Amino acid sequence: MKAIAVRPGKKNSVHLADLPKPKLDDVPGGRGVLIRVLKVGVDATDKEINDAQYGNSPPGYDFLVLGHEFFGIVDSVGPNVRNVKPGDYVTATVRRPGGSIYDKIGTSDMTSEETYYERGINLLHGYLTEYIVDDCEFIVQMPVGLKHLHVLAEPMSCAAKAVQQAFEVQRRLRVWRPRVAYVLGAGQIGLLTTLILRLRNLEVYTIARGEAPNLKSEIVTGLGSNYVSTKQKSIKQLSEEVGKADLIIDATGSSAIAFGAMEVLGHNGVLVWTSITGGRNHVEVPGDKVNLDWVLGNKLLVGSVNANRDHFEMGIRDLAVGEVTWPGVIKKILTTPVRGLDNYQEMMRLLVEDQSALKVYVDVAEG
Ligand code: BGC
Ligand code: ZN
Repeated sequence: MKAIAVRPGKKNSVHLADLPKPKLDDVPGGRGVLIRVLKVGVDATDKEINDAQYGNSPPGYDFLVLGHEFFGIVDSVGPNVRNVKPGDYVTATVRRPGGSIYDKIGTSDMTSEETYYERGINLLHGYLTEYIVDDCEFIVQMPVGLKHLHVLAEPMSCAAKAVQQAFEVQRRLRVWRPRVAYVLGAGQIGLLTTLILRLRNLEVYTIARGEAPNLKSEIVTGLGSNYVSTKQKSIKQLSEEVGKADLIIDATGSSAIAFGAMEVLGHNGVLVWTSITGGRNHVEVPGDKVNLDWVLGNKLLVGSVNANRDHFEMGIRDLAVGEVTWPGVIKKILTTPVRGLDNYQEMMRLLVEDQSALKVYVDVAEG
């Protein structure tokens, strides 16, 4: 079976690997789900793993199969599987449990252990191959009516968790009625977060570099949000015009912007960081001023990574509501298909070089 893999720690090592086809019995207890891979999305994480910034092979291997944004069709299931059946369209969660209490209660996205196990990212093979098998616990059904949004289920789950975390932590206030939200970055997480916040009727400003009109601004305005280009207006200027934000979600991949956001959050506000920044950048912040403002304003910063199956289910529901609220808009994120696993070089080239590609994904098989 073909698979797209890298040698972690070695730059630009993306290559085609060979794996045996998995079997239902590879999962104990009759809980296996064997799935034919249809489509797999790639993102900055795959780019950074191929750039040797992080990522580890599974024990016993000197390569790591990439791909954590999964969409497939169930081929067969073990006798104790109840949640999906052959022919169902499905996605799969990314993280697998370690040993902490959070892992044991189905929330491995909140593991308290330093080591985390993520398919296609750390210590477990990913989905850029022909078939996968996994425990039914980690397989989530996609309604057939959302088949055309396929690989967005996983990034959507991360966006759903980020927003859910903000509302969870704000229960400290007893009453929280956020009005203005800034979403920093208009990559896939920024756009999907915009969608979720618009479904909650917030006044959303989605902030990115490029000047409108462009595809990102078209999607942002299509979701009833406001597109702001930092080439025309700084975030500080925006905050002077529309007021500081009650909620800020950073999805830029820039730690300078993530820290800068601390200066435009309103009293009692929450700032959520979602970016994985694999580099070594240092940033300067006006520490005394931020410290003072944050203490006087009871402000809160929360990091959010990954997603468990509840977030996948939330995200899929929001994709469905988003699709009927703004028909055809979400699909515009899925810009750049690559045909077949053999085209792995092209996949990486598009991911690294193509500035117009909002979302690169591999069409692994028809179905
Ligand atoms: C993935 C998450 C993962 C994170 C950290 C992201 O690209 O979508 O599922 O937890 O990287 O590895
Ligand atoms: Zn990702």
